[in-house]
Amino acid sequence: MSGPVAELPGCIPTAERVVATVVEQEQVARDTYRLRLRCPSIARQIRPGQFFMVRDPHGDDPLLGRPFALLDVAASEGGEIDSVDFGYVVVGKLTTLMSRCQPGDTFEVWGPLGNGFPKPTGGHLMLVAGGIGQTPFLAVGREALGRHVYGDPQRVLVEKPDRVTLCYGVKSEDLVSFVDDFEQAGIDVRLTTDDGSKGRYGFVTELLKEAIASGSDRPDEVFCCGPEPMMARVGETCVEHDIPCWLSLESPMACGFGACFSCVVRLRDDESETGWDYKRSCVEGPVFRADSLIL
Ligand SMILES: Cc1cc2nc3c(=O)[nH]c(=O)nc-3n(C[C@H](O)[C@H](O)[C@H](O)COP(=O)(O)OP(=O)(O)OC[C@H]3O[C@@H](n4cnc5c(N)ncnc54)[C@H](O)[C@@H]3O)c2cc1C
Ligand code: FES
Repeated sequence: MSGPVAELPGCIPTAERVVATVVEQEQVARDTYRLRLRCPSIARQIRPGQFFMVRDPHGDDPLLGRPFALLDVAASEGGEIDSVDFGYVVVGKLTTLMSRCQPGDTFEVWGPLGNGFPKPTGGHLMLVAGGIGQTPFLAVGREALGRHVYGDPQRVLVEKPDRVTLCYGVKSEDLVSFVDDFEQAGIDVRLTTDDGSKGRYGFVTELLKEAIASGSDRPDEVFCCGPEPMMARVGETCVEHDIPCWLSLESPMACGFGACFSCVVRLRDDESETGWDYKRSCVEGPVFRADSLIL
């Protein structure tokens, strides 16, 4: 069972369905894991902000695949890009099953899916993340700072940001993950916890507002991923201050390639009678401009 999934309507033509082998897994925080799957064709093509669907091929509970964002790509001992890393929190059936997997186990994976983040522009790129919503930003930051070139054909940036800041909010210290990876990539990490157990006490949205108010720290562009209420606040703040802002939605998805319409979101559309229209988050998204979304 491997090959293109492009026969299906709306599907990304280069997406492939493959059997991927577990290379390694490590626990990085409470209920939080980094999993590396060997799937060379997907790893070579995928770009920051894109995702893939993962399904257990050995059973039917859960029957459907689940979406996960690219954390980063990894190379074989010979130096060829051949694997994808992703970070996940255990919340239900598939993530519980994944947390018990061992090297050599297999999963069905299809991707790369979705539009991913746009090429960043120059200046100060601020990444605002809540909870496990930080995972797409490692690849975004590494690409923006020239540490890695993703995609096939390779996506080359015309303009590079001068600096990249990650404002990262979690509930408590025991859920903080991947900070060392972000710092090693040259990203300035600013942390908040809801209970004050690590970093600043409070919500991550305050860090964005402070940066805007400071003048010299004002972001030129904002990318955001996390719980929907937090993304709505970030989007509103950026629109109010005329800062381009892109939100990566985590809408529940059944197929991931445009066939089932389980993932639709409302986008402003001046041509429609209602002033808005439905778009599929898995194909037209999951990344949308904040000023186009109705959350
Ligand atoms: C584009 C995209 C990228 C994602 N990337 C990541 C990632 O990198 N890491 C990660 O940990 N998670 C990510 N998610 C969320 C992830 O897909 C869900 O956590 C996963 O589907 C849970 O599967 P499960 O079988 O373990 O849980 P289930 O048994 O399906 O559900 C457990 C509980 O979680 C709720 N739930 C399931 N999916 C979602 C969702 N999308 N939003 C809100 N509640 C949900 C269910 O309603 C239920 O209450 C992403 C989602 C999308 C759409
Ligand atoms: S998940 Fe099926 S159309 Fe988007």
